[in-house]
Amino acid sequence: MANTTFPFRRDPEHPNLVVTRHPLLRHKVSLLRSASTSKKIFKELVDEIAMLLAYEVTADLQTTPIEVETPLAVTRGEKVMGERLTLVPILRAGLGMVDGVLELIPTMRVGHIGLQRDHDTLEPIDYYFKIPPDPEDSLFIVADPMLATGGSASAAVTFLKRSGARDIRLMCIVAAPEGVRKMQDDHPEVPVYAAALDSGLDENSYIVPGLGDAGDRLFGT
Ligand code: PRP
Ligand code: URA
Repeated sequence: MANTTFPFRRDPEHPNLVVTRHPLLRHKVSLLRSASTSKKIFKELVDEIAMLLAYEVTADLQTTPIEVETPLAVTRGEKVMGERLTLVPILRAGLGMVDGVLELIPTMRVGHIGLQRDHDTLEPIDYYFKIPPDPEDSLFIVADPMLATGGSASAAVTFLKRSGARDIRLMCIVAAPEGVRKMQDDHPEVPVYAAALDSGLDENSYIVPGLGDAGDRLFGT
């Protein structure tokens, strides 16, 4: 359904990464980073950024030709098979990106993967997994605002592959080089789309400069 060639604008250091540098995205990510951005605005920005990222992630989708009757004539049109697309937010922060993506592609199906990073070992622990049937026929877009060590995203992709998924992309807002490299090592065929590539991780594996804890800022915990 999607062509399998890797996206353009590849960084030789991170051949699996596409950073979308549209000025609107850069503007919105800057607002998102600010510690003074309120919970309400933070959620709105996450949705807007998710929508803009989804536009990029789906840029090479194949379309089916259709006939369209305009008020003046019959012409040729194109249709995207939205129901063959599955968005998989990683709970909980990934949930914050769902509304924005569905605004753009309302027919997209939604699966869920519940993963939480153990704050001592930093290992991802899975507590929920549910995806729609026929995973081999779907393009999966895994969504999580933060790609830090990459443990959660890599585990999510592993679980999806075990369930039969073959075509998987990862969409995040802020990525750390460590997480991008882990994805490259574990799942080199999975493109990673991000709105920003940050400097690195701090001693608690938070992304620096980052935006803090995305789940806490989204849900006010
Ligand atoms: C955050 C974030 C990612 C993960 C990234 O979730 O939303 O899922 O950490 O870190 P990693 O790349 O090192 O795995 P967290 O585990 O804090 O759970 P939450 O979404 O419930 O806040
Ligand atoms: N999870 C977050 O929410 N933020 C980080 O910086 C790292 C992991």
